[in-house]
Amino acid sequence: MTEQLFFNLLLNLDLFNFILFLSYTVLYTVDHSITKDTMKADIVVDLQYGDCGKGKVTHFLAKTRNYTHVLRYNGGCNAGHTIFHEGKKFVTHHIPSGVFFGVKSIIGSGCVINPTQFFKEIKELEDGGINTKGMIFVAKNTHVITDKHLEEDKKDTAIGTTKRGNGPAYRDKYARDGFLAQDIPELQPYLIDLLEELNNPEVFVLCEGAQGFGLDIDHGDYPFVTSSHCTVAGALLNGIPHQAVNEVWGIMKGYETYVGTKQFETDDPMFSEIRDVGQEYGATTGRPRQVNWTNLQLVQKAIAMNGVTHLVVNKMDVLEKVDVWNFLNSGKITKLANRTEFEKYLVDFLKSDPSSHLSKFHFSDCPETV
Ligand code: IMP
Ligand code: MG
Repeated sequence: MTEQLFFNLLLNLDLFNFILFLSYTVLYTVDHSITKDTMKADIVVDLQYGDCGKGKVTHFLAKTRNYTHVLRYNGGCNAGHTIFHEGKKFVTHHIPSGVFFGVKSIIGSGCVINPTQFFKEIKELEDGGINTKGMIFVAKNTHVITDKHLEEDKKDTAIGTTKRGNGPAYRDKYARDGFLAQDIPELQPYLIDLLEELNNPEVFVLCEGAQGFGLDIDHGDYPFVTSSHCTVAGALLNGIPHQAVNEVWGIMKGYETYVGTKQFETDDPMFSEIRDVGQEYGATTGRPRQVNWTNLQLVQKAIAMNGVTHLVVNKMDVLEKVDVWNFLNSGKITKLANRTEFEKYLVDFLKSDPSSHLSKFHFSDCPETV
């Protein structure tokens, strides 16, 4: 009788252990498939109003890491990325910086593309000694900027757009009245299916954003915004699963600049000095950029929303030259005595947000590297 009881207990225990073993195996396999069999992505986002030096950071990352692809994920040729490559200056509008290092460079479906500008840029890169053959791709479902879009955008006076047809092209996309890259014969050799290209565990993609948080269609200062998503979410919209996100590099300057019709610069002669020292003139349109002090609340919000892990503060050399160290904190100017205090104030301020994922801070003095 006791023997029978013991035997039954053993049997039950075995069954219990067997079920436990089975659940662990299933759980492990599921978890394993999430972490292992997914592509990896680093994302570069601008935390202010564009022109913070994303091109430089993307160029630096593409040079120093083993990415398989670089993906432009939003915007059109309204963007102007200034890049110094082997001593030569390049300004790219459409084509991502991977091309400088022989990394596949993709214009993603979150972008809009002007084919004329696209081919002009390929020629400029080739003329500058960059091999673009077999390196540049366009997602087949990217929308096209047409001559009609350009004509319409040229008439804008309300927003102060770059007149590159961006807004009208996105409007027609959402009105379901646009043209896709796959409908344009000249683009055929460049077309790819983004999911087929990226959905592979070997893929390590660097996602290069355009414009910035303050210009974002949803989170910027509407209507003084661009027509695309300038956030990490904007990168994911191109077909990147959220599990793939590795590092998020948030880029800002030691001060702010904005181009457009709204009044942004305040009455301080220091701003024209910064404009001159920092060469704050649009890379796409040549327009003078309005200057102001860094708005701490804007940057904090952008860092939180984008889950930024690495922060780069560019153009510190410009603030060194003018030697003024101010922030805008809740609308009031906070004056710091020197660079050390300025850097400490910013780091402490950003670290005080308990939800922040920030782990690395870089203060950069040089237009050519981080
Ligand atoms: P759009 O993107 O050309 O429609 O212009 C809308 C607003 O975004 C305007 O204030 C432009 O000056 C601004 N903008 C667009 N692209 C950039 C950029 O790459 N850098 C800075 N400002 C930009
Ligand atoms: Mg720019």
